[in-house]
Amino acid sequence: MDYQNLMNRAKEVSNNAYSKYSHFSVGACVLCKDGKYYEGCNFENSSYGLSICAERNAIGSAIAAGEKEILAVAVYSPNCNDCIPCGACLQVISEFSSEDGIDIITQGEDDLIIRNFNDLMPRRFRL
Ligand code: THU
Repeated sequence: MDYQNLMNRAKEVSNNAYSKYSHFSVGACVLCKDGKYYEGCNFENSSYGLSICAERNAIGSAIAAGEKEILAVAVYSPNCNDCIPCGACLQVISEFSSEDGIDIITQGEDDLIIRNFNDLMPRRFRL
């Protein structure tokens, strides 16, 4: 699977990050089962704990559009290579991922890095 388009979208939307407190911009793009893409960036708040990560913002857009299943997530930050989703985002991603895991794509120094979700989060919390 060629994920360059997915990563390009994550990069593009990272330009819209509202990260005036951390100065750490993040963009994410999710690919859904129907082939559609949804982007999100982080947006922070003066009450720091209310800040929302890029991945959760992107997933929120997908859900609002009626999506139920995610096939892949690309994450990009201009501030670091290989920007992996935080634990909270992994839990949110798990809700819409298959049991076999999905592809999580980050940007390495030169190339894309593709990992299986289950390697990043071997066990999920479930009700
Ligand atoms: N952030 C994300 O957008 N995604 C992550 O997976 C980790 C962290 C954001 C939250 C906050 O706005 C900034 O990065 C610094 O933590």
